[in-house]
Amino acid sequence: MEYVIVPMDRSHLEQIAALERECFADPWSYASLEEELYNPQASFIVAEDGEGGVLGYAGLTAVLDEGYIDNIAVEPAARRHGVASALLDVFCRFGQERLAFLTLEVRASNAAAIALYRKFGFEEAGRRRDYYQRPREDAIIMTREFGHGTAPADGPGAETTA
Ligand SMILES: CC(C)(COP(=O)(O)OP(=O)(O)OC[C@H]1O[C@@H](n2cnc3c(N)ncnc32)[C@H](O)[C@@H]1OP(=O)(O)O)[C@@H](O)C(=O)NCCC(=O)NCCS
Repeated sequence: MEYVIVPMDRSHLEQIAALERECFADPWSYASLEEELYNPQASFIVAEDGEGGVLGYAGLTAVLDEGYIDNIAVEPAARRHGVASALLDVFCRFGQERLAFLTLEVRASNAAAIALYRKFGFEEAGRRRDYYQRPREDAIIMTREFGHGTAPADGPGAETTA
């Protein structure tokens, strides 16, 4: 399957909003996706086929050295071809360079997503009771630690720290 990973732009919003509606009970709207274009702390990326089609997308919010994966979704017809892996790999590489950790929430029953995150080194860090509605369900918190950027390694003299 051929695709390139590009930053999300306005041309993707309609398709991503449709993908959200297809995948989630509480989908992100066009307007909420559009807001992320202007959010300096957000990085939203898209796996795009050769003709402007969105195969998948993922969003990250980073505040200082803490990263939160807002979402990741792949078109049903494009699944199990490594698209989500390619998107997540971008965020994990960023994490290795810049973040102390990356964290996210996932429905406890979402075996596909949990397997994906485990493959990328995320571990269960906790559970939020009844976090999701329709259907009501716990969220599993999954986190991958990078240990980068945390004090004191980020502070004065960091350059000399191995
Ligand atoms: C979860 C999701 C993003 C995976 O996307 P994908 O492009 O199919 O994932 P990849 O092809 O990169 O798969 C990577 C790994 O994830 C795991 N995985 C993906 N789909 C899986 C499935 N249906 N069952 C079990 N494991 C699965 C496997 O470990 C897989 O590695 P492998 O193919 O070598 O076995 C996709 O199923 C999806 O969009 N689901 C609906 C939206 C969603 O639930 N998003 C997560 C919200 S927290």
